[in-house]
Amino acid sequence: MSMSPITLHAKPSANYAEKVSETLDLLQQAVAKFSPVTQASSLGAEDVVITHLINQNSFNIPVFVLETGALHSETLALLERTQAHSKVPVNVYRPSKEKVIAFVKTHGQDAMYQSIDLRKACCQVRKLEPLAEALKGQRAWVTGLRREQSNNRAEVPLIDRTEQVTKGQIKINPLANWTWGDVWHYISENKVDYNPLHDQFFPSIGCAPCTRSITLGEDFRAGRWWWEDEAAKECGLHAKT
Ligand code: ADX
Ligand code: SF4
Repeated sequence: MSMSPITLHAKPSANYAEKVSETLDLLQQAVAKFSPVTQASSLGAEDVVITHLINQNSFNIPVFVLETGALHSETLALLERTQAHSKVPVNVYRPSKEKVIAFVKTHGQDAMYQSIDLRKACCQVRKLEPLAEALKGQRAWVTGLRREQSNNRAEVPLIDRTEQVTKGQIKINPLANWTWGDVWHYISENKVDYNPLHDQFFPSIGCAPCTRSITLGEDFRAGRWWWEDEAAKECGLHAKT
C-alpha cells in the first residue's frame, strides 16, 4: 500500500516561518563561522529539505552521502537525481570493498541480526569508517537530527560542540526544532523531490536490511534495527561514545 506523506503529514507549526528563518540563520552562520562545513544526507525527508535550503540560498555547503552498499534501490535512484540537480557538490563515500567482502565472508550477509556486536561491526565498516573520511578536513557538519525523533534525541542542540558526539567537528542540527509536519509542509510547498520509500510508511531511511516500514501508532524510529532494544538503536553516527 502507498499513501502520500504530504497528504498524511504536511501541517506547519504555528511558528513555522520562524523555524525556517532560524534554520536559514544557522546555515548562514555555519558558512560564516565554521567553514569548511558539509551536510550529511541519508536522502531521507529531513535531509532533502536541508539540501534544498542549501541550494536555494547558494550556501557553500557541499553534501555527502554514505553509500553503505546496503541502501534501497529507491535511495540510490534519489542519490543519482540529487547529483544531477544539485548546484552544490554531492559527494559519495563508500566502505572499503575488501573489508566488506571479508566481513560478509566471515559473518554472512545477515550478521546484523545475530548480535548487537556484529551489527555494530557492520556499521563500523559500512558507515563509521566512510564517515571519518567524509569529515576529514571539515570544521563542521550539518545533520537532519530532530528532537521529536526519539527520546535519545529530545535534547539535540542547534549547535553541538560535545566532542564525543561530534567526532571532533562541530555538529549543526538546523532542523532540531522542526516537527514531522513542518518537514512535509516544506517538501509540499517547495515541491522537493523525496524518497518514495516515504510513500510506503518508511519514516526514516537507512540500510535495507536494517529498516522496515512502520504501522499506525508505532514510534517514529520503530522501523530501525527493530529487533534491538530502544537504547541500542543508534548506529554510532550520532551516539555518544
Ligand atoms: S541513524 O543514526 O539512525 O542512521 P538517521 O537515519 O536518523 O540516523 O539520520 C540522522 C542524520 O544522520 C541524517 O539526517 C543525516 O544527517 C545523517 N545520516 C544518516 N545516514 C546517513 C548516510 N547514509 N549518509 C550521510 N548521512 C547520514
Ligand atoms: Fe550494516 Fe545495518 Fe549498520 Fe547498514 S545499518 S551498516 S546494513 S548493520
